Amino acid sequence: MAGDGRPSPRTSEWEALAVHPFLAACRRVPTGHTPVWIMRQAGRYLPEYRAIRARLSFLELCRTPEAAAEVTLLPVDRLGVDAAILFADILLLTEALEVGLEFSKGDGPVIRRPVRTAADVARLPEKDPGETVPYVFETVRRVRQGLGGRVPLIGFAGAPFTVASYLVEGGASDHFLETKRLMYRDAGAWHALLGLLARLTVRYLIGQIAAGVEAVQLFDSWVGTLAPDDYRAFVLPHTRAVIRELPADVPVIHFGTGTAGLLEAMQEAGGDVIGLDWRVDLGAAWSRLGSGVAVQGNLDPAALLAPPAEIRRRAALILARAGSRPGHIFNLGHGVLPDTPVDHVRALVDAVHELSARGDPGSGTP
Ligand code: CP3
Repeated sequence: MAGDGRPSPRTSEWEALAVHPFLAACRRVPTGHTPVWIMRQAGRYLPEYRAIRARLSFLELCRTPEAAAEVTLLPVDRLGVDAAILFADILLLTEALEVGLEFSKGDGPVIRRPVRTAADVARLPEKDPGETVPYVFETVRRVRQGLGGRVPLIGFAGAPFTVASYLVEGGASDHFLETKRLMYRDAGAWHALLGLLARLTVRYLIGQIAAGVEAVQLFDSWVGTLAPDDYRAFVLPHTRAVIRELPADVPVIHFGTGTAGLLEAMQEAGGDVIGLDWRVDLGAAWSRLGSGVAVQGNLDPAALLAPPAEIRRRAALILARAGSRPGHIFNLGHGVLPDTPVDHVRALVDAVHELSARGDPGSGTP
């Protein structure tokens, strides 16, 4: 242990090698089986989650560390996944920006006061996440205690582009026209907004790491809407600024959807692991990226609506595409859909474990 109570790099490296397949795979170290976790694994498809949500609104749940920690642990107990992901949301950080964040029933997130002009950007306060979302860090501490070292805990944040898209659009969007309007009309205001989000995100993720998360995922879920040149000019420098500021011994997963045209540029921005959606062939995408990076993915979330035998067949195909290359973390290509049968998610986790078992007790077996 280092003086601050966090494991020294040497200790965490040893743990990665000897104990946790997920952390080992992030480092492209061979593992006894392919680790698997599921984006949105603590969500509405779980009856236990729906029961808790009957008592608490989504934001109340996020703001109540005891309940958020309980929800984080549900899929670990129920599914046998190889990692837990903090229960929170990429938009919690925008609470600090005083833009009127709400989660309305059925419609998803709403930003009451969208950010559309240079003056709107200039008005945004820059407050420390330790002051504005202390409950997230408290949830991390409780989850680490509840996990007792069983599996690693992944923290996360939205990448600057995806968070900005909600701020500018005022909610979800199909074509991101307001976002692109700001980007194309007022590059100064755009870069000021993404610069601010990048600084806040660094402090937010470092706070999560200090509280105990062992890896982080940066969600750039909607960045696939951009042309490669625009990604490079308007987004890459800000995402890179976030990743560069994070401690080197904490693996970073850099995820987006619809990114077939952006993978090399995303890799340039950084990340130990690149998250792939189902629209790319995992083997071909990994060959493009090269052996210097790990990959995560990439089953179509809708495939979990198929019968378990078909789920198993599709999992085997993805594992075959990864082949014997170390550094594959199995996941869906995006979040699990709310009407997915829990048994099917369990069938996927079991199938990945069985089909990928390499029986090497020396490295990464649970
Ligand atoms: O993966 C996990 O289990 C951890 C928890 C988590 C949530 N949101 C909980 C949540 C994570 C990692 C997120 C990330 C997130 N949030 C993203 C990036 C990932 C992605 O899906 O692309 C985005 C874009 C958001 C913003 C967001 N939050 C939207 C668009 C919505 C509404 C749509 C939806 O799925 O309901 C949310 C709400 C939300 N975040 C829910 C959950 C479990 C559903 C809330 C509910 O219980 O009604």
